[in-house]
Amino acid sequence: MKFIHLKAIAMSVGLLVGCSQPEQVVTQSEPAEAQPIAEQQSKIEVGRDYHSFANPEQIKVSHLELDITADFAARILSGKAKLHFKRISEGSDTLILDSRELTISKVTSNGADLEFALGETDPALGTSISIKLPAGVNTVTVSYQTSPNASGVQWLTPEQTAGKQHPFLFTQAQAIHARSFIPLQDSPQVRMTYDAIIRTPQELVAVMSASNDPDAERDGVYEFSMPQPIPSYLIALAIGDLEFKAMGKRTGVYAESSILEAAAAEFADTESMLIETEKRFGPYSWDRYDLLILPPSFPFGGMENPRLSFITPTVIAGDKSLVALIAHELAHSWSGNTVTNATWRDLWLNEGFTTYLTYRIMEIIYGTDRFNMEAVLGYQDLQADITALKPDDQIMAIDLRGRDPDDVFSNIPYEKGALFLREIEQKVGRQNFDQFLVRYFEDFAFESITTDQFVAYIQTNLIEKHPTQLNLNRIKQWIFEPGIPEDAPIPESNAFVLVDEARQDWLSGNLAAKDIRTQNWTVHEWLYFLNNLPELLGEDQLVELDSAFSLTQSSNNEIAHSWLLISIKNWYEPAFDRLHNYLVSIGRNKLVKPLYRALADTEEGKVMARKAFEQAKSGYHPLTVKANEGFIQ
Ligand code: BES
Ligand code: ZN
Repeated sequence: MKFIHLKAIAMSVGLLVGCSQPEQVVTQSEPAEAQPIAEQQSKIEVGRDYHSFANPEQIKVSHLELDITADFAARILSGKAKLHFKRISEGSDTLILDSRELTISKVTSNGADLEFALGETDPALGTSISIKLPAGVNTVTVSYQTSPNASGVQWLTPEQTAGKQHPFLFTQAQAIHARSFIPLQDSPQVRMTYDAIIRTPQELVAVMSASNDPDAERDGVYEFSMPQPIPSYLIALAIGDLEFKAMGKRTGVYAESSILEAAAAEFADTESMLIETEKRFGPYSWDRYDLLILPPSFPFGGMENPRLSFITPTVIAGDKSLVALIAHELAHSWSGNTVTNATWRDLWLNEGFTTYLTYRIMEIIYGTDRFNMEAVLGYQDLQADITALKPDDQIMAIDLRGRDPDDVFSNIPYEKGALFLREIEQKVGRQNFDQFLVRYFEDFAFESITTDQFVAYIQTNLIEKHPTQLNLNRIKQWIFEPGIPEDAPIPESNAFVLVDEARQDWLSGNLAAKDIRTQNWTVHEWLYFLNNLPELLGEDQLVELDSAFSLTQSSNNEIAHSWLLISIKNWYEPAFDRLHNYLVSIGRNKLVKPLYRALADTEEGKVMARKAFEQAKSGYHPLTVKANEGFIQ
């Protein structure tokens, strides 16, 4: 009875504060074509987080105290989350949290039990927890445990690690998975500081997106504190047999011992990247910047967890060719972690600014030629998405109502965002634009902002100062309309002109593959060569390329990816063993999903896809499983 009563309160509070309800999710799934884009966009409530049940307009969490134990045998995290909050509006007496597959045993405040109720479960959003607050109470402690299938946690067996001796655990909270391992207000507009005690098996080390002590004794109890307020998607934990190696004064790497040296060498430029980024874009706010190298099942390239970016080992290529990833995660320390998107619709504020800064950092550290090549490759990824995505999904400020953010991942917020900022830079001049960026990072430091706030800000701080160069309508076109505006600044690379010539000469039969002058080609030239071959090649052409360049055996995971994609589309069987090994040893979704997709185009391909997927599945991250299982059935 009590439960039903409280649930009724939760539902009505939910409606009052505009929380997403399952009913709304259903009504939003009308065909996109039904309404013109502008009309549809105008119905979005700016700043409303459609992906959280929480009610921060009324009661806002500001600090988290976490005390949890990792049980590797049961694959469960259990313990307590104590939330400190402020009442924003008078008379609010219900705190609403997000959760996903959590088992809540009790909720207390100052030792006294509080009433709580769970809402109905939404497949994308999880389950709300509504807690009735007695007057005067400003903390609650939730005792809970996670599900072994928590969407934001991956538990790895010793065999799935580099060292093969010890298990491993890591979390990945962005976008809405923090709620699967901590009950909290899982919205990027709620910022909190946190303290944590993590209890682990004695031989393992815990690290977090917080202050880490590389000399901490291995005693199974680790304490952390994050003194700057961060959104929940930046809370991160990893536990494993980790070692630390310093790379510079403020930078270092955590990794399993067998890859520690290789990682430190590959990422040796991290300290210079940090120093140079500060010089251009203002002081680094987070004290240290360390990297954590994860096992190959990590579903992303990198994740910008503050003070400790999480990094896939698939970029350790031996020649620093893929370190733009580090520049990217570092750049998020400004765009993303210091100035944060208020809702997932505003993700381009994180990723577009970060992609723009990444290019700038790469240019400073590795020179203009490399920058140009990376910019062209990024632009080609963008073009591919513009061709593939329906118009609504080409909009930077995308309408995500009723959609799971995991299903909408694309290059639009990244490369279209970066191109947009590049255009503004070119119109007002680099110096003026850099000044604007420094001010932007200062003015919104430790705040979460919406696209509309950004538009108002750029209007006052840049457009009005450069009225002949900039124009609000053009800026709105970039942000709120599909496609790439005409006369956008298309990147170009001289080095790639030579690659185009070589490819053409080879395709027209005027040049043998072995005679192409590839001696000085970097990974980028290889990628450009491969990615721009015609879709269909002859068996003899594939054999010729492979025997001249051993592409099937490439140890560079990006080159291997491009070659394997070509091999699938052309049914080049000599590459299929490598393809299988690739799919079962890497879990980074960006590398495996296009391969599964291409395999799924034919019945024979599907058979191979299913075989690899079944073998790999238990080692894949839940996100990689979710992203691929649908289309290979
Ligand atoms: N923050 C993102 C990863 C992310 C975005 C996770 C949205 C969940 C939802 C991270 O910074 C990122 O962009 N990673 C890219 C790096 C690449 C663009 C250099 C990746 O993992 O591929
Ligand atoms: Zn990013």
